[in-house]
Parts: sequence; structure tokens; C-alpha cells
Amino acid sequence: MTTAVSTSAAPHPRNPPAASITLLGMGAIGTLMAWHWRSQRLFCLSRSQQGCERRIQDQQGANHTLLLPHWDHAPTDWLVITTKAADTLNALRPLQPDLPRINNILLLQNGMGQQQQVAEWLSQFSQAPQLWVGISTEGAYRSSQQQVIWAGCGETCIGRWSEQDRIPAPALPNTRSVSDIHTRMRAKLAINAVINPMTAVLQCRNGELLSNADYSRQMTLLANEIQWLYQQLGWSLDFSLAQRAAEVAQATANNLSSSLQDVLNQRPTELNYITGFLLQQAQKHQLSLPHSEYWLQQLGERSRNE
Ligand SMILES: NC(=O)c1ccc[n+]([C@@H]2O[C@H](COP(=O)([O-])OP(=O)(O)OC[C@H]3O[C@@H](n4cnc5c(N)ncnc54)[C@H](OP(=O)(O)O)[C@@H]3O)[C@@H](O)[C@H]2O)c1
Repeated sequence: MTTAVSTSAAPHPRNPPAASITLLGMGAIGTLMAWHWRSQRLFCLSRSQQGCERRIQDQQGANHTLLLPHWDHAPTDWLVITTKAADTLNALRPLQPDLPRINNILLLQNGMGQQQQVAEWLSQFSQAPQLWVGISTEGAYRSSQQQVIWAGCGETCIGRWSEQDRIPAPALPNTRSVSDIHTRMRAKLAINAVINPMTAVLQCRNGELLSNADYSRQMTLLANEIQWLYQQLGWSLDFSLAQRAAEVAQATANNLSSSLQDVLNQRPTELNYITGFLLQQAQKHQLSLPHSEYWLQQLGERSRNE
């Protein structure tokens, strides 16, 4: 079954007024969120400065076409950024003249470092939007430039970037507004910092980190190192990272991590915003992370040799 959905349809009079959401980064997760938000007033910002047509295959295997007009620069409730972490500031900077017309910016990405960069950049402007950050356990991948496969159902949590500011999030459908987003982001970062660099270097599925005794031993060493770093930084992790990373690897045994997918597709990985970010934090406190450094270096070596 193929359904075409134009996202600018007028809301039903009984429904709450649709939010105006502008998506910057119409790749896998951007397209999936557009599908979830299809009853809202959606716009996109593409490199070509034109509207976007994307196809998404839902979990029942049905295909849908989404047509998003290019943002017309009218006031928007949300600018949602779903580029890879490294592209964030480059994508956002050209929008500086539009900042007074954007109420909220949501960074919906993995990794850390880019949020602080955006917060610092925004702090220069008197009429800056509110900054929100989010993490998602949804899974989607691109089978071609315009086709996205919704691979796994999950949850998207959002919260204010500024920890002092506890105002509740204005409604954003299909997301949960939480007050502990920083703790959640750090927990996700820790797990990614174990699974992603190892699977990218070893070029293995997540489950092999457990089934191969040598990989499993190395995974424990890496997890213990990151758990130790978090303790030194005063970042609370209320679980054993070695155990949680093993549980995640088991539950996703057949999956290729996003970093491995990037390596296989010869795209830059986000590891500078995962392992690299943790190494920067360690360096600031004169701490050393030999295992994390080893895996990041291995990836550098590998990409130089290819
Ligand atoms: N995919 C998932 O299941 C998933 C789940 C949770 C979190 N995440 C996180 O979500 C983020 C995005 O991941 P993804 O898998 O969706 O990546 P992706 O498929 O590569 O999508 C990124 C999109 O951003 C676009 N982009 C980059 N710079 C741009 C610019 N200056 N102007 C306009 N568009 C720009 C890219 O366009 P081009 O194609 O033209 O480069 C691409 O369409 C990452 O941080 C990822 O870790 C992903």
C-alpha cells in the first residue's frame, strides 16, 4: 500500500491547533519524525532550498510518501535539528537572521558537544529561541537518499538544555517532556561510547561483542573505564555500565551500530561527539582514558588505510 501525505493539511476543528514544525536534516530520523508529526504544519530546510519528498516504509511494510514544503520563514514553533552532530552548527549558522521567528530549537541527535556549541552561539543574540535537547530510541535508516525504513519503535524524550530553567516544554506530539534529560543523555552517551567504537573498529554486529570472548573482555575494560570517568566527573550513572552495555548488545545482537553503518557507507562517524567528547572531558580534568583513546585511534588508523 502506498499513501501520499501532504503535511500542510488544515487541522480538524475539534483537534488542538497544529504546531508549526520546521525540520532541518531530512535523513533517517528527520523523516521518521516527520511521519509521526504528519498532522502538524510541517516544513523542511533542505540544502537545495526546496521542498522535500521522502518515502517511508512503516513497520507493517506499507510505503508512504511525505511532501514537505520548504520553510517560508513565517514564525515557527519548533526548529528541529536532525543532522548528524558534526553538521549542527554549520547547518544552523545561516539561519541567524531567522532566529526571532523561531520559538524553540530542539536538537534531536546522538552524541554530546554540539549542544554546548549551539547554546554558546545562541547566547550572542538577544532574541534567541529556547534551546531543547532530545534523545530517541526510535530506529530508522535510509535505504536510498529519499527512502527511509522505520526499523524500530521507541520513545523520544526532550528537555531544556539549561538546567536552571525548568519551564515545561510546549506540546510537541510523539515526545515526552522530562526534567532529567541531561542524566538520560549521559546514560545514552556512556552506552554508545562502549558499543559504537568497538563495533565500528571490529566491524561486527552488536551481539559479537558478547559471543567473542576477547571482544567481551575488552568491552568490560572499556565500560569500566567510562564508569570510572563518570564517577570522577560527578555524573551519576545508576547502573553498572558493563552490565547495561552487555544487555543492550544482547537485545540488539543482530544490529549494526550507527557508527559501523557509517564506516561501511564511508561516511564520517559521530564518534568525535561520543568517545571524542569523553576524551575532552577527561583531558579537562587531567584524567586519562587509555581504552577509549585506543578505540578512537584504531578508527582513525583504519579510515586512513582505506
Ligand atoms: N537513524 C536513527 O535511527 C537514529 C536514532 C536515534 C538518534 N539518531 C541520531 O539522529 C541524528 C541524525 O541521524 P540520521 O540517521 O537521521 O542521519 P542521516 O540519515 O545522515 O540524516 C542527516 C540529514 O541531515 C542532512 N543535513 C546535514 N547538513 C545539512 C544542512 N546544512 N542543511 C540541510 N540538511 C543537512 C543530511 O543531508 P545529506 O543527506 O544531503 O547530507 C541528511 O539528510 C544523529 O545524531 C543520529 O545519531 C538517529
